[in-house]
Amino acid sequence: MKKRQFLNATALAVLTLTAVSAFAQDSAFKIGLVLPMTGQQASTGRQIEAAARLYMAQNGDTVAGRKIELIVKDDTTIPDVTKRLSQELIVNDKVNVLAGFGITPSAFATAPLATQSKTPMVVMAAATSSITQASPYIVRTSFTLAQAAVAMGDWAPKNGIKKVVTLVSDYGPGIDAEKYFKERLVFNGGQVIDSLRVPLRGPDFAPFLQKVRDLKPDALFVFVPSGAGAAVMKQFLERGMDKAGIKLIGTGDITDDDQINDMGDGALGVVTSHHYSAAHPSAVNKKFVQAFEKANPGMRPNFMAVGGYDGMRVIYEALKATKGKGDGPALLAAMKGQIFESPRGPMFIDAQTRDVVQNIYLRKVEKVNGQLFNVEFDVIKDVKDPGKTK
Ligand code: PHB
Repeated sequence: MKKRQFLNATALAVLTLTAVSAFAQDSAFKIGLVLPMTGQQASTGRQIEAAARLYMAQNGDTVAGRKIELIVKDDTTIPDVTKRLSQELIVNDKVNVLAGFGITPSAFATAPLATQSKTPMVVMAAATSSITQASPYIVRTSFTLAQAAVAMGDWAPKNGIKKVVTLVSDYGPGIDAEKYFKERLVFNGGQVIDSLRVPLRGPDFAPFLQKVRDLKPDALFVFVPSGAGAAVMKQFLERGMDKAGIKLIGTGDITDDDQINDMGDGALGVVTSHHYSAAHPSAVNKKFVQAFEKANPGMRPNFMAVGGYDGMRVIYEALKATKGKGDGPALLAAMKGQIFESPRGPMFIDAQTRDVVQNIYLRKVEKVNGQLFNVEFDVIKDVKDPGKTK
């Protein structure tokens, strides 16, 4: 090759490379948000989408030179659909990140796809401990039921609750809640006199609650997924269980901010343990709640919303740290170890487990300015997921 030809070839190669990398930088950074927008968990999808859009409105839609494109897909609360939509997002849309995942079976169905395609998968809702072990590409910004339930297993026996019946939805998070609550309650000298499980789909609580009434425990501990709490509360009160001296306790999923204000005064005094309350008294949270309510009139953000909001933050910061490069392994590395103040309080993505370390609060339903809220009265700081086996 003559010198001039060689130079031309080199110049061409440099030009092409520059063009390719300029294209990569200029092209959209795609986030595939797969959520239950319809079906049993529709309120979760509505909350997370609203929070993700709020985060983008507040932080701009261009990050490190890349335009952020949010592609929202409705999995109709059916795990096979979550998997198919995620596959399409990876193969056809070439998304840089998958996010959302309203229920545990949807997260498990998608995990192998994240691994095969090396696509970071930000779990913003699903809360069974073992989810993060299903793929090294999963990062979680929600919580785990083990994290929340252990706090209640410590609080209850110190507050006169010794004999308990547990009632949980019969799938991953319910089984975790039952197990970790019981272990801690028994360790503290309490007793679980019966453990009841209700189906996830369309449960009828009536026969279970009748059984609890007959057993006369000090308290009934409940886990049902976000959106199902109001039905439990209604039937609990209609059957006069509170008047029969049975207290209702559980993880904060049952006194969901999405529903609590419509549950009526019968809910007053119910104590739950959880990682987020819309009444969390911090400046960051006040600002979040105000902005969320302004952008979504008639809605109050719940713990699902905060999982979505913080998930977007984790993605944005990873994109900044990697200077706009969209490649999966680099993004994943930049998600691990992030530490920041969330509307829920301090939050940390454990680099080893890729799971969230956060405060768990004890809260009581109270009236604040005429509205029902979960008012925090105690805190267990920096709780790691107790459900991790490694
Ligand atoms: C889950 O399916 O993992 C799940 C859903 C809703 C909740 C908690 C956990 O409130």
